[in-house]
Amino acid sequence: MCGIIAAVSSEEEVAPLLLEGLKREEYRGYDSAGVALLDGRGSIAVKKDVGMVRELEARHGVSKLKGQAGIAHTRWATHGGVSRENAHPQVSCDGEVAIVHNGIVENYVALKKALEAKGHVFVSETDSEVIAHLVEEGYEKEGDPVAAALAAANLMRGQYAFVALFSDRPRLLVGARYDAPLVVGLGERTRFLASDVLAFLAETDKAVFLDNKEVVELTPESLRVFNLKGREMSPKTRKETHVAWELGSLSKANYAHYTLKEIHEQPATVQAALAQDPEKVGEAAERITRARSVVLTAAGSSYHAALLMKLRLALEAKMRCEVVLSGEFERELPFIDEGTLLVAMSQSGETADVLEAVKMARRKKVGGVLSMVNAAGSSLVRQSDQSLLLNCGPEVGVAATKSFTAQVMVGNLMIDRVTGRESVGDPRRLGQLVERALESEPLMRELARRYSGRPDFYFIARGGHYPVAQEGALKLKELSYIHAEGMPASELKHGTLALIEEGTPVVVVAPNGPGYDDTISNAQELAARGAEIIGIAQKPHPVFKHTVAIPASNGTVAPVLEVVPLQLLAYFMATERRNDPDHPRNLAKSVTVK
Ligand code: AGP
Repeated sequence: MCGIIAAVSSEEEVAPLLLEGLKREEYRGYDSAGVALLDGRGSIAVKKDVGMVRELEARHGVSKLKGQAGIAHTRWATHGGVSRENAHPQVSCDGEVAIVHNGIVENYVALKKALEAKGHVFVSETDSEVIAHLVEEGYEKEGDPVAAALAAANLMRGQYAFVALFSDRPRLLVGARYDAPLVVGLGERTRFLASDVLAFLAETDKAVFLDNKEVVELTPESLRVFNLKGREMSPKTRKETHVAWELGSLSKANYAHYTLKEIHEQPATVQAALAQDPEKVGEAAERITRARSVVLTAAGSSYHAALLMKLRLALEAKMRCEVVLSGEFERELPFIDEGTLLVAMSQSGETADVLEAVKMARRKKVGGVLSMVNAAGSSLVRQSDQSLLLNCGPEVGVAATKSFTAQVMVGNLMIDRVTGRESVGDPRRLGQLVERALESEPLMRELARRYSGRPDFYFIARGGHYPVAQEGALKLKELSYIHAEGMPASELKHGTLALIEEGTPVVVVAPNGPGYDDTISNAQELAARGAEIIGIAQKPHPVFKHTVAIPASNGTVAPVLEVVPLQLLAYFMATERRNDPDHPRNLAKSVTVK
């Protein structure tokens, strides 16, 4: 989704920093990009275009623009098509104010009408443009940038993070956030406002995470924060955070794509996920044990990890437990009360639906919010009573890979503490098992070659392996654009068998253990109707046309080992089909709008 990076400096030209920041935010997904630079003579130069950041640079020489204050943006279209006019920055009628925005201004139609009635002329179809005009109005009236941003913020409904640049304020940025992320970066000479710390991490690892509903005034020397009523917040409430992510982890190393690199990082990241403070894990387990019921909420891959947690909580800890897609959270509301613990899971900690679910649960006086998040300092962490971090470093590929396996392991660690069972074992041993699962790579490449032309793919499994089938199907859809479904093996005869044709590939997750025989019978039924079975199993079986061997393990670690070959399959299907696995079409890494 849209990415913001803005910079103000006491002595540096900021254009190259903005360009670098935009590149670091590319992973969020976007269709156009732009910058606005304020030069020493008080005029704002705007360069924006449809396409990639490198094209913006090639066409407009952005890095050569002069200015010690500027704002930049990658746009993922919501309101208004993909066009140069709709790209950000958006500028006020008089050209004195430029803004970049992430989010949706829900009441923009009414605001636009009112502004047009006052004589404002709009040039784009975006909701965001109203912000430029609102800030312009406020600035004319109040003569103060913060007051102008506050006036605009208080008129808008929806979610937003925006940053404004004023032509007559050469050393100033003003930003505001409401349910969308905005982080301050404190460099020696240059300061930043960004959607994501990654955008300025090359310059500084000192960050200040703004709270929701705050307006910020940033100069090279000062940082002031206000609430939406205009009251200045005490600087004591602004803790500087040292961002622990290494910049090295942002390079592709020797891999062709981030996605492949991140898949290969998993032997290390599953171990890092387990390196939790035992006291914090104990506290989390305590919250679970104390709760009358547990509701897990998440989206996408994080939802699949939540499904795995639910199974263990229900079957082993005998807890009343529900998993609800965050976007469907409303239906769970009648069952939320002070006896409920909400467990929210998210790689980014910024997924709009997850944050909204937390909000709804709070309104129902939920007993507590425990989250599992990769991005420290994210909105979800700030809205939780307790968070366990996934520790898997920045995940740049749009497809969740290492964050999924980290979530599974952090969940296992916590549930082990609840049940008193030692299922996780030695982290180093786990790392070695994941290494062995990665040995499936040549076979997955070969299978991708063989099946990349097929229109449909099915993934089936039972019990604790069914979420793996769902995750395998999601990965394949995202990266290869092939229709794929993950389903319980038990459901086959209730419809899906009708879809099987000669040569239809079906991935059957069939590890040793409970359900193995039944799953194999289902594979037989599929093969009898022409399906080609790819078995994810510890041992070959005559019904498997291809066996992807996974190492033996106990049940709680198995999903991690089973999913690794499926991630590789999706990756190679993408490259076979000439798709860009890091930037799948139409998708964004961090879904910050509903
Ligand atoms: C998974 O590969 C996806 N990119 C997507 O489904 C993702 O898991 C989902 O958007 C949730 O994101 P989060 O974990 O950051 O909340």
